[in-house]
Amino acid sequence: MSGFFMEIFSTEIQMAPFQGITTSVFRKVYAKHFTGVDKMFTPFFTNVYKEGLNRRGEDELKDITLNGIPVVPQILSKDPEEILRFAEFVKSLGYDEVNWNLGCPFPRVAKKKRGSGMLPYPGEIRKILDEVFKKIPLKFSIKSRLGYETPSEILKVVEVINDYPVSELTVHARIGKQLYKGDVNTDLFPEILKLSRIRVGFNGDIFNREDFIRIKEKVDVDLIMLGRGLLVDPLLPGKIKKSDTGDETFRVGKFIEDLYFQYRKKFNDSLTALNVLKELWWYLSHSFSNPHKVFKTLKKTRSFDEYEDAVKLILDKFEWVGSEAGLFRISKIEK
Ligand SMILES: Cc1cc2nc3c(=O)[nH]c(=O)nc-3n(C[C@H](O)[C@H](O)[C@H](O)COP(=O)(O)O)c2cc1C
Repeated sequence: MSGFFMEIFSTEIQMAPFQGITTSVFRKVYAKHFTGVDKMFTPFFTNVYKEGLNRRGEDELKDITLNGIPVVPQILSKDPEEILRFAEFVKSLGYDEVNWNLGCPFPRVAKKKRGSGMLPYPGEIRKILDEVFKKIPLKFSIKSRLGYETPSEILKVVEVINDYPVSELTVHARIGKQLYKGDVNTDLFPEILKLSRIRVGFNGDIFNREDFIRIKEKVDVDLIMLGRGLLVDPLLPGKIKKSDTGDETFRVGKFIEDLYFQYRKKFNDSLTALNVLKELWWYLSHSFSNPHKVFKTLKKTRSFDEYEDAVKLILDKFEWVGSEAGLFRISKIEK
């Protein structure tokens, strides 16, 4: 095997966090059915200082590893005491890493200098890290964007982070103001990698194996986080590492079925289960031959019976085309 392909297989693949989608149920079912992911992140927790973690929060933190894959809890906060409180709590549950969210782009978050809204303020990041690293009882990693207003903000942030034993920094290659629009920007990565003393990971717009290889050729990282690409085609990490085999439609069908029953259990057979599943289906539909029709079929279901019939119809009547078809990138369908 050539050196380059060896590099693909040895690249760490992380599952990106998605509020409302990559829940504890999703992570557990995913880890049971698919291969290729080396680490998973929880969607962010927030306001844990004022309110403490409610029962639902604790429920979401039950599994420290899943099928051998470590799970990392994420916190969105600009308050070092809150970060430390969360870190102490997850440490007491058995976790050995906590991740700080410096990437959330939503204006109501960013305006308060939280998430990517903190990136233009490296001085404030330093103050927080100063406090956090006085007491942090476990590994501390960061997930960020290139900046909030401009991509070069990341360079000042890396200079600050270099002064602390941050375990890794994963960068979604967009600025906060872009939200999820426009292309990812890899231009600054050579500079970021040269400057950083911390291990750097890449995140953004990897929707199939070709994208993964293209990014590996462009950006010299050994850590790649997959987000929407994995939601569109849960087999993507296994396809990248060529570790997943078997009939794709059958395997995805089993995954969907398992997820459905686990969500029903989690929500005591309330229809919330369907709402959560529909969030995932919006992505998943792009791996079928007619995403628009698939999602429409699913979206209109209002009962468990209707949902089950819709899934059966989709699996029978529509072709699973997977990530290779690239339908998500060009999609215009609305949720
Ligand atoms: C609905 C939604 C929820 C998200 N929730 C989180 C979150 O809780 N924490 C986080 O760090 N990123 C979150 N993200 C960002 C993703 O983890 C990821 O960084 C982003 O989608 C870019 O990667 P991708 O192009 O591979 O999808 C979210 C994104 C979306 C669209």
